[in-house]
Amino acid sequence: RQALFIGLSASKEPLMMQHREHLVVAVPVAVFAAAGGFLVGQYLSRRGCKKGQVNSSISKDSPKVVHSFDMEDIGTKAVYCRCWKSKKFPYCDGAHAKHNEETGDNVGPLIVKKRDA
Ligand code: FES
Repeated sequence: RQALFIGLSASKEPLMMQHREHLVVAVPVAVFAAAGGFLVGQYLSRRGCKKGQVNSSISKDSPKVVHSFDMEDIGTKAVYCRCWKSKKFPYCDGAHAKHNEETGDNVGPLIVKKRDA
């Protein structure tokens, strides 16, 4: 009988009181979500990586990062970075291994070599 009474009293609450109860929950959740989104955005911008960008640090002041090599100057073998994490970019320094481990990615270098090298 008491439960029935509580149920009836809750359903007879004025509509404004029910909306206030929802707002008490919804407003902190919205504020928390907005703060979380802001912090993630700050983190990504500090890393120099906007959404969709793969280059976080190499020649960021340049409109386009391009390297050109003459085939005759390559020698017997050259290993080029494709993950954009190498400290010796455009050459691979093995940084792709850490990147793959941290992200679950599977990137690796481009290896150019003479046929019999
Ligand atoms: S360091 Fe980038 S592919 Fe190896």
